[in-house]
Amino acid sequence: MKLQKNISLKHLNTFGVDVSCKLFCSVTSTKEIEQLLLCDEFTKNNVLILGGGSNLLFTKDFNGLIVKNKVKGFETLSESKNNKIIKVGAGENWHQFVLWSIENGLSGIENMALIPGNVGASPMQNIGAYGVEAKDVIDKVWAVEIENGKEIILSNKDCQFEYRNSIFKNDLKDKVIITHVSFNLSKTPKKNTGYGDIMQEIKDLGMEVSTESICKAVIKIREKKLPNPDKIGNSGSFFKNPIISTSKFKDLKELNPEIIGYKISETEIKVAAGWLIDQCGWKGHRKGDVGVHKNQALVLVNYGKATGEEIITLAKKIQDSVKDKFDIDIHPEVNIIG
Ligand code: FAD
Ligand code: EPU
Repeated sequence: MKLQKNISLKHLNTFGVDVSCKLFCSVTSTKEIEQLLLCDEFTKNNVLILGGGSNLLFTKDFNGLIVKNKVKGFETLSESKNNKIIKVGAGENWHQFVLWSIENGLSGIENMALIPGNVGASPMQNIGAYGVEAKDVIDKVWAVEIENGKEIILSNKDCQFEYRNSIFKNDLKDKVIITHVSFNLSKTPKKNTGYGDIMQEIKDLGMEVSTESICKAVIKIREKKLPNPDKIGNSGSFFKNPIISTSKFKDLKELNPEIIGYKISETEIKVAAGWLIDQCGWKGHRKGDVGVHKNQALVLVNYGKATGEEIITLAKKIQDSVKDKFDIDIHPEVNIIG
């Protein structure tokens, strides 16, 4: 394990914010993590565990130690007639894992193709897309407790998954390093085609419904809607879709018949924040190098030299305008590192 000093983070965060950190190291195994926990550099500094850097925003140089998780590997833990449990290293790239699962005849995560980042971050905010969430397939999460170096194993239930939320963003925030995640994948195609344009896109591709065609369709839809972080800096949806009461949604719908909401329970509706922000006139906005993407108002972008503070300033203006127009609070999905 090599500790480096004053490392640039520009290419380690998909927003492309040009900041650096005081100390940096990579870890490749649980053993290395346990050793790291005993080092002065770890115990005497602020520490941030980094995956693919696709869901965070640095507002300034990080005055501490960044630990890049590079724990790799795929392992079959068990197999039944219909399912396989696959344990994956936290440092594996998520999209490569999706492709690997399809190549190995397994289904369950194809709707989440092309989500950037690493497997280890997938339980953090319970990633989700096109009708499937990580919580639908996660079996267990392996982690090392920072305080005492002990390994813990959390069941799916222990993780307290909710929409873009889990125990790792609450009780276990900054307390554990996730080393592995196991997934319960199906040997028969799940065929989750109910969400949005998936069916249309499969038809346009001239394919039958299959695990592979769903993956291809999702990739096509995402490439149309979302900016590629290799070309324009961004962290995907900057805000979460707000959840409001059904009665408040009814009142808003009378005034705004076009408002988009999805029922999540008898009493709650999840509102499309992209629509709210769009209605406030932000889509395509640009000031200097900070902007709101032209196809998706939920995505804030860095055209080049934007700073984290500039992005936060724009985010606050957007929050205020949504509050003024709709009386709805929207909250960041992105982890703000200050
Ligand atoms: P990072 O950004 O590196 O880290 C995120 C947080 O998790 C940080 O707080 C970090 O400290 C913590 N963390 C990371 N790894 C570990 C670990 N091993 N142990 C402990 N803590 C850890 N998300 C969705 O849910 N759905 C989408 O459809 C989606 N689309 C996106 C599209 C684009 C273009 C982009 C740029 C992002 C998108 N995202 C989406 C957000 C992002 O890809 C996911 O949140 C992803 O899981 C982040 O993974 P990461 O490895 O990059 O995490
Ligand atoms: N919309 C607008 N204007 C916009 C953007 C969206 O009117 O500028 C409307 C769309 O027309 C659509 C609705 O809002 O009717 C929802 O838009 P979309 O289907 O693009 O989904 P989203 O709610 O904006 C969520 C996730 C994405 C995920 C997609 C697909 C959140 C915060 N975002 O986006 O996840 O990929 O659904 O499932 O839940 C991420 O988390 O980073 C992310 C990209």
